[in-house]
Amino acid sequence: MIRTLRLAMVIAAFATAAMAVSCAQQTSKAAADAAAAAQAAADSAKTAAAVQRGQHLFLSYCAMCHGDGGAGDGEAAARFQRDSVMVAKLNNSDRMDKLTPEELRKVIAEGGGKTHRSDLMPPWASRLSPEQIDDLVQFVLQLRYMNPSVPSATLAAYMAAPEGVPADGRALFVHHCVACHGSEGKGDGPFAAKLLETAKVQPRNLTDSVYFKDRKDSDLYATIALGGGHFKKAVQMPAWTQTLTPAQMKSLVAYVRSISQTESK
Ligand code: HEC
Ligand code: HEC
Repeated sequence: MIRTLRLAMVIAAFATAAMAVSCAQQTSKAAADAAAAAQAAADSAKTAAAVQRGQHLFLSYCAMCHGDGGAGDGEAAARFQRDSVMVAKLNNSDRMDKLTPEELRKVIAEGGGKTHRSDLMPPWASRLSPEQIDDLVQFVLQLRYMNPSVPSATLAAYMAAPEGVPADGRALFVHHCVACHGSEGKGDGPFAAKLLETAKVQPRNLTDSVYFKDRKDSDLYATIALGGGHFKKAVQMPAWTQTLTPAQMKSLVAYVRSISQTESK
């Protein structure tokens, strides 16, 4: 009995000592973590600023061929396709993962002709400064993480809008969406039967957790803003960007999250 007690005391003493040591370690580790986090935040703010400048340049100089989101679908792309030249899809990670940032910089600066590619990719070193080309590299590096079919302007509006409020979303939903999606969002509104009969499409059941748990907020937002047709879904899902503000559409996304009982992602 006494032995057990003594053992317990020894263990307690050890534990206290160990705690003191780990506390001291934690304090210095916490300080180091805080410094690292501050550095990371500063770095990411710097990169974010470069990406933003790069996007601006990209929309001015590159999007007519490569498309706003780098999907290779700019206005001029169709013309090249007739001559059997494909404008590179800069949002394709299989392709872009093979290029280092240095190679990327070289293609942009020197053009396709000097880098074993089509000379329809122009050289930019004479028109843009090295800093501008660096900014473009930072932006192009991000393209693969952006949804290929969401235009950058839509994504920018989404990011700039305040966080959505589910209750506001509900009020808008009752006003604009129940005709098709039904008062509880189950896809059974008064207009749904007609859509099924005439167009063989069904409004999505917005309470379907399995479906919505894998969808990103920005994708839901984009579908609401630009309509189903923009994403090869049913065109009967209308575009709302002319009717609703970005903040309102974000609240609708928040409402869809609440009725589908899924987490934001
Ligand atoms: C006049 C049309 C046009 C413009 C403008 C243009 N590009 Fe290109 N770009 C192309 C074509 C075509 C290719 C494909 C070349 C090939 O694969 O042979 C290409 C290829 C590229 C590649 C190489 C991708 C790879 O996988 O090898 C990069 C990077 C690139 N462009 C970036 C840019 C940037 C950045 C701008 C703007 C500063 C820009 N391009 C402007 C037509 C254009
Ligand atoms: C005229 C009928 C109609 C109206 C009104 C309507 N929708 Fe839809 N909605 C549809 C149809 C049809 C689909 C299914 C599209 C598909 O999957 O091909 C759909 C799909 C959706 C989806 C699923 C998108 C995805 O990624 O699969 C969401 C979210 C959505 N609607 C939200 C809304 C909201 C919010 C409103 C009101 C602002 C609204 N809808 C109004 C018909 C409608």
